[in-house]
Amino acid sequence: MTTAIYPGSFDPLTFGHIDVIERSARLFDLVVVSILTNAQKAPLFTVEERIEIMNEILKPRFPNVEVDRFHGLLVDYAREKKAKVIVRGIRAISDYEYEFQMALMNRRLNPEIETVFMVPAEKYSYLSSRLVKEIAHLGGSVAGLVPESVEKRLKQRFK
Ligand code: PNS
Repeated sequence: MTTAIYPGSFDPLTFGHIDVIERSARLFDLVVVSILTNAQKAPLFTVEERIEIMNEILKPRFPNVEVDRFHGLLVDYAREKKAKVIVRGIRAISDYEYEFQMALMNRRLNPEIETVFMVPAEKYSYLSSRLVKEIAHLGGSVAGLVPESVEKRLKQRFK
């Protein structure tokens, strides 16, 4: 049984993340989508809200996807979950430098864990949670970029 961890901030979950989750769920027996709880950046949605959003959207669609949270080193968490794979999405070359650095550092910390890069659909290649928040904050439409429930929560948050 191969367990993969898909770590991130998911603040908020976008269709780009869901695309990566869908692809990963086809490849691995179990995909644990896990939110980093000790991130330095101040989040828009609390960890509890993000978990709620993700469970609501992912649970009915993907039986082999689990939502969780973690703190500390990702490789320690992966070991705890008996996961041999870390999944990361790469949208463009600009993502690559940071992801490459993280993958090699994680390999140094635990050589038994492999990082697998997934490429989301082209239509999501310019999509990021940061831009979604900025657009929603300034009153623009994020329809088609995030699930409807996320759209609603963003509207509430910024009204
Ligand atoms: O969605 P993000 O913000 O790009 O996700 C970044 C994340 C959570 C994958 C990264 O910050 C992380 O793994 N943090 C945990 C701490 C850690 O293990 N740091 C060393 C990484 S080489």
